[in-house]
Amino acid sequence: MSELLAVAAAALGLPEDLVRRSAEARAAETGSSVDEILTAWGGGEAVAVTPSPAPEPPTSVEVSAEPPTPQPDVAPEIVIETPPAQTAPVAAAPPGTYRPPVLVGAPDKPGLIILGAIGLFLVVLLLGLVGPSVATDEPGARTSEIPYSQAAVDGQKVYASIGCAACHTQMVRPVVADIGLGAVTLNDTNQVLGDRRFGPDLSDVGTRMTSSQLESTVTGDSTAHPPHNLASKDMAALVAYLLESRNSGGQG
Ligand code: HEC
Repeated sequence: MSELLAVAAAALGLPEDLVRRSAEARAAETGSSVDEILTAWGGGEAVAVTPSPAPEPPTSVEVSAEPPTPQPDVAPEIVIETPPAQTAPVAAAPPGTYRPPVLVGAPDKPGLIILGAIGLFLVVLLLGLVGPSVATDEPGARTSEIPYSQAAVDGQKVYASIGCAACHTQMVRPVVADIGLGAVTLNDTNQVLGDRRFGPDLSDVGTRMTSSQLESTVTGDSTAHPPHNLASKDMAALVAYLLESRNSGGQG
């Protein structure tokens, strides 16, 4: 076999080791013996290869002869790489190119999925949080700016400072972000929102009570209302504030 190997290697112009392994692979593939392969490659029986560098143009080989089993025109190293025909994954693959078997299907696009998730998150954020908290000047829009007199502005401070907002709300808005803010005045309202409602909502109390009713309520004289003892100036301001508190939705 070694002479055959030497002849074949010389004929192909390739290292003996490579030729031997190629021949073995080819033999295993075709079912013939290694010697037969080597004989064919070395220019033996029924072989067309002339002792010149191996990869010849296929046409010249076809013209010269038809080898029985092995095909001497295929370069040995390519033979090694070629998978058995039945496991070749893609029929259209050009002969000699090794393609590992892969599952064919639509490729995943994780980047696109992540981008979509971020986009969806941003849209929800915009519609649910950013949009409702943008102040607007449009008449009848979501605002409770009330044109208070100076006395009422002072009364608002009294109202906020003595804790009326602990039991009364003014203007309850269906905005989740407002809950938990406590007795604050947001930038689109000059009412005191409050955080609990033990007593009635006072956002439009000025539409249903007179100044004397308001005062006697706050002092606890007329009802069982928690009594508040205020300086007369503060009481006047507070009553002015309550009187001027009208419905913020423009219906008051
Ligand atoms: C401890 C809780 C509490 C505090 C603090 C409180 N209120 Fe009240 N308020 C109530 C309750 C309860 C009612 C309803 C019962 C009633 O009218 O007696 C009420 C009713 C009222 C009413 C009548 C509203 C209506 O529509 O009948 C007014 C006006 C009022 N409060 C103003 C005030 C002001 C102003 C302050 C701050 C100085 C204040 N309240 C502090 C609990 C409170």
